[in-house]
Amino acid sequence: MAADLIARLLELKGQAPSIPFPGDERELDALRVKYLGKSGIIPLLSREMAGLPKEQKPEAGKLLQEVRAAVETIINNATHKLKVEKIQKDIDGEFFDITLPGAEPSFGARHPLTAVMDEIAGIFTGMGFQIEEGPEVESDYYNFEALNFPPDHPARDMQDTFHLPDVKRLLRTHTSPVQPRAMERYGPPLSVLAPGKVYRCDSDVTHSPVFHQVEGFTIDRKVTMGDLKGTLQTFIHRLYGPKTNVRLRPSFFPFVEPGAELDVSCIICGGKGCRVCKNTGWLEVLGAGMIHPNVLKSGNIDPDTWSGFAFGMGIERLAMLKYGVDDIRLFYENDMRFLRQF
Ligand code: DAH
Repeated sequence: MAADLIARLLELKGQAPSIPFPGDERELDALRVKYLGKSGIIPLLSREMAGLPKEQKPEAGKLLQEVRAAVETIINNATHKLKVEKIQKDIDGEFFDITLPGAEPSFGARHPLTAVMDEIAGIFTGMGFQIEEGPEVESDYYNFEALNFPPDHPARDMQDTFHLPDVKRLLRTHTSPVQPRAMERYGPPLSVLAPGKVYRCDSDVTHSPVFHQVEGFTIDRKVTMGDLKGTLQTFIHRLYGPKTNVRLRPSFFPFVEPGAELDVSCIICGGKGCRVCKNTGWLEVLGAGMIHPNVLKSGNIDPDTWSGFAFGMGIERLAMLKYGVDDIRLFYENDMRFLRQF
């Protein structure tokens, strides 16, 4: 019986090279069951081996391992080959139309207000201004008091302020509070441009409760109204073209003295008169003036040594004029048909 087992193992080993290579999944399964299944040849022989005399076990064990390895090699090779064949078959059966048009991703772009803001910032940084930002939740002090609005000054009524419940704080109504903040922080000489969001309780086709302003100012020794006019003229020529005329008209703002408003010749009709300029030929675009001595003092700057000019403008209005947009709300609705035009 023992000799018989070894003889059978030797025979099996001899037959191994001629085991037919499985051609499909079914034949592969049959081979696996025949040799390795629960009642397959190898498990059966392995159980028989238990009855062998001790000294024959190593030889029988070695033979059995060789048979098992030979069978497993065939099974592994066949498994791999069948898998590769299946992938190739799937590829061959697939049709990929390389002439189909691709799906184009939609590109993002700068919002027109951002574009105008960036353009303005670029013009002024080119003239040596540094960019500063202040908080949108501002104190009554910086928004009004430091800008020479006394507590009961009627000019405060010009600003439709959103007050916060704690009385002393509000949503800034303009970017001018960056003036005293930057003065305190840096001291003179100083040229600052402060873009940002501002808030006023006001809403119609040309007013939005949230809008954008750019504030600018220069402080140095012997700064004059001439410096203000030259700076603003250069700015307007860069923004709207060198043919645009500018003029300053006297006006009042508590934080400047003298105060002025700057008009540009109508960029729609070139000054001939049209609906946009209400037939005057001029458009008002910004407020400006010489910084009031009281404001310099609030910023710890001595008005006997230093002087400065300041100006402030609304971005929406500049953008509406530049692009011929007549309803401010279009800027905030984010309708792609509108935004794609810029
Ligand atoms: N802060 C003013 C406003 O919101 C705009 C302004 C006017 C700013 C005159 C200035 C200025 O710096 O000199 O209407």
